Amino acid sequence: MPMDEDQFKTPLFDAMVSLAEGRKVSFHTPGHKSGKGISTRFRKFVGPKIFSIDLTTLDEVDSLQKPKGVIKEAQELAAKAYGADRSFFLLNGTTGGNHAMILATCNPQDTVLVARNAHKSILAGLIFSGAQPIFYLPTVDDNLKMTLNVTYEATCAAIDANRQAKVLVLTSPNYYGICADLERIISYAHEKEMIVVVDEAHGPHLKFHPDLPISAMEAGADIAVQSTHKIIGGMTQASMLHAKSARVDMTTLATVLRFVQSTSPSYILMASLDLARMQMATEGRKLLDKAINLAEEARGKINRIPGLFCFDRQMVKNPFFAQMGDFDVTKLTINIRELGLSGYQAAQILNNQYHIQVEMADPFNVLVIVSIGDRRDDLNRLVDALREMSKEYHGKNSPAGTVIDVGLPTFAKEVRMTPREAFFANYQYIALDEACGAISSEIVTVYPPGIPLLVPGEIITKEVLDYIRTMDRLGATVDGLNASNSTVAVVKQ
Ligand SMILES: Cc1ncc(COP(=O)(O)O)c(C=O)c1O
Repeated sequence: MPMDEDQFKTPLFDAMVSLAEGRKVSFHTPGHKSGKGISTRFRKFVGPKIFSIDLTTLDEVDSLQKPKGVIKEAQELAAKAYGADRSFFLLNGTTGGNHAMILATCNPQDTVLVARNAHKSILAGLIFSGAQPIFYLPTVDDNLKMTLNVTYEATCAAIDANRQAKVLVLTSPNYYGICADLERIISYAHEKEMIVVVDEAHGPHLKFHPDLPISAMEAGADIAVQSTHKIIGGMTQASMLHAKSARVDMTTLATVLRFVQSTSPSYILMASLDLARMQMATEGRKLLDKAINLAEEARGKINRIPGLFCFDRQMVKNPFFAQMGDFDVTKLTINIRELGLSGYQAAQILNNQYHIQVEMADPFNVLVIVSIGDRRDDLNRLVDALREMSKEYHGKNSPAGTVIDVGLPTFAKEVRMTPREAFFANYQYIALDEACGAISSEIVTVYPPGIPLLVPGEIITKEVLDYIRTMDRLGATVDGLNASNSTVAVVKQ
């Protein structure tokens, strides 16, 4: 396809540079006045220039709340690059985008079908909106001890069993790069007149390389939210929301985004979105070629190290994976089980002994994200460290002895209230040991695998409590309990 020359443009960044270089006298926010008032230590470390583009809403650089100049132009270029009717810059990450996505499509009391591997921001969106979620489960691979994604068959069955549901909420890819079969799922849901919205936090790069899974917009989603900052050149917190107008009321969506976004958005973050889009649209293929090759090369080497296993695209052909859509090969999920270590222990060893920081760990794996910023040397360092760890641990510990077989959580199926009703009901903290049978008033998650263990309104079961305790003991981060993970918020009876 011929290059769209417009994609070389960076209207917002250009306007910011031109304003900064114009050196106008500023009697407006931010109070540091182009860095003149900033802490000396800060300026010394980062240099003076960055502060000259830490701007505020001004005619020259447009307004995110009511864009009609360079921000509008930058968002239109993003929409064109991603195949959306409209794109919106987000400054509170995909978290804020997910809130807006739910609020714009789900009215109070609407029934919403939600794939249970949803991030807590989707659940918070449901609390804000007052909608009634019906959850259905992703597939779990017992060999890998991993949650994959939802299948086409499970989604169709959930749609058929809940014909009153207005919106389908999916998360694809998941953290490990495993995608749902979006094209078939979206086509089925649209046939049944549902709106399909996708948390695509881990997929802002997919559109730009043919060897990566299809993106949500290309697969026909009505809304997709992407963490530009997680995978490509956006700065932390900078995300994008893309939407198609056939089933989404764009006026409502724009209004909701005005509500959830700051009235003082960071121009530095917005510029990073403008530039990240330009970079991907003009040289994404080449940059991603490199990232894909580096990841595949490292995967091959890791799979030759005794005791380690890093699944590849061939797995997509095995019976379990066959139900999934596809797999993003830039993710390296390194199964560490045979070394007799948990993923958490392996991540700590990599960090403390080898100064290598991975994206995350779960009981059995460490996850490495390979992106356009990685160099061959970085991956060689990882492979060398893994080789040394294999020499030290493989065959010395029994895998079963050190890695507790945690199984994977199902969730509390009995629902007594909507998430909103439960969240706003009177609550009390009670000891985990006494919580069986109570109604949760909090969102409790362990990320990964990212399946919410408790959603407000659900009855707390023994199975969930056992799982929380095990994950806590293993060193996972349990989110939504008190500081020492000993009490949980429940609806006061
Ligand atoms: C699937 C998913 N959705 C949403 C988010 C939130 O994204 P952000 O950190 O950009 O707010 C995350 C963060 O890890 C995520 O994994």
